[in-house]
Amino acid sequence: MLTRAPKGTKDILPSESYSWQYVEEKIRQIARLYGYREIRTPIFEHTDLFVRSVGDTTDIVQKEMFTFEDKGKRSITLKPEGTAGVVRAYIEHSLYAEPQPIKVYYITPCFRHERPQAGRQRQFNQFGVEVFGGKEASLDAEIISLAVKLFDSLAIKGLKVNLNSIGCPDCRGPYHEKIKEYLGDNINSLCKSCSDRYEKNPLRILDCKEEGCKALIAGIPLILDNLCDECKDHFDQVKAFLDAKGIDYQINPLIVRGLDYYTKTVFEIISDSLGAQSTVCGGGRYDGLVEECGGPKTPGIGFAIGLERLMMILEAQKAIDIVEEPMDIYIATIGDMARLKASDLISVLRKKGISADMDHVGRSIKAQFKYAGKQGYKFVCTIGENELTTGDLRIKNMKEGKEDSIRIESLLDYLIKQLGGSSND
Ligand code: HAM
Repeated sequence: MLTRAPKGTKDILPSESYSWQYVEEKIRQIARLYGYREIRTPIFEHTDLFVRSVGDTTDIVQKEMFTFEDKGKRSITLKPEGTAGVVRAYIEHSLYAEPQPIKVYYITPCFRHERPQAGRQRQFNQFGVEVFGGKEASLDAEIISLAVKLFDSLAIKGLKVNLNSIGCPDCRGPYHEKIKEYLGDNINSLCKSCSDRYEKNPLRILDCKEEGCKALIAGIPLILDNLCDECKDHFDQVKAFLDAKGIDYQINPLIVRGLDYYTKTVFEIISDSLGAQSTVCGGGRYDGLVEECGGPKTPGIGFAIGLERLMMILEAQKAIDIVEEPMDIYIATIGDMARLKASDLISVLRKKGISADMDHVGRSIKAQFKYAGKQGYKFVCTIGENELTTGDLRIKNMKEGKEDSIRIESLLDYLIKQLGGSSND
């Protein structure tokens, strides 16, 4: 127990973390390119925020939240997704009073108590973007193109963008009646959750994974055929902007998304490199959410990419080689005086931005060389009694296998030259 991470969680080990940093850096670059700035919100929020925003008929709220009572007897929930906290922050800090749109992104852990499987964890990470205060269809196309740009920059192939519109409250009212009419007497055959949804939010029935419900909804009227004029026009414009940007997409009228806050555009990006959990990105508009959470009427839109799934695709496709830059120099030492000298030297090198290290575990000189070789240092040199007396040093370029003789005091200049001016000086 003590030596096992909790079910559904995973460590990211030093051997893997560079790939994560690489992807995160790409994310930050592209977010900047599109004018998004980072927002960081707490890992936990008041439970009511998620009930109100994600929706009490969703699987997330009904079954998957990590909820607990804090010492002040408040109900707290670890964030199951990133949007709700950002909306809360937007309202709390009156960001609506600043020039709109507000464009933000985040990289955050999320928590859902789901049955773990490949691509599905209880703690996972999302990269998400949210935009507030922009109702134009150009924005819907922009965020989809941002997601596609990120995948392209990582040379990811085999993705499909699935697009739908689920309308606004105006078109959804009459549409819900159509669903009820279509289901007729079959409501008694719906699963327990769907009976609940039938009353509160019939659209959710389209998202049910139960075979019985799936059979009942085959042939159900589609929301896309029941949009009001404004929503239809908006959807046509989204498609036109996507076409203009040359982004491939398919219309999938069955996408309703697993969260209640969406209006108009919804989309999912699916990968053929993932197994059952093939959705790597999901998002859409939420033009009523800010108001629902107590803020002024403000349109919103965003998406989130599951980073574990993105990493799985990278691993499966192996289209890019993500290789961590090795450390610059290892100073092997023989004897206590040499250790003091090496310690002094590595401080000087580090000050100039050259990564350097020495033995800290009392290894033999042979073992120090073996260690340095395994760690992949670019240069290795040895300091012993002889070097201390003469001031001469032999330094080996590990990749090229060639050795140079230099003076100890010129080690810094030698490395700056060899490393192509990597010094921060
Ligand atoms: P979501 O579809 O629930 O949307 O999650 C977004 C992505 O997070 C999924 O497509 C998937 O890649 C990843 N994901 C979800 N659950 C898990 C899990 N248990 N394990 C691993 N990855 C997972 C949202 O969360 C919305 N907040 C997206 C959004 C932002 N919509 C508007 N703005």
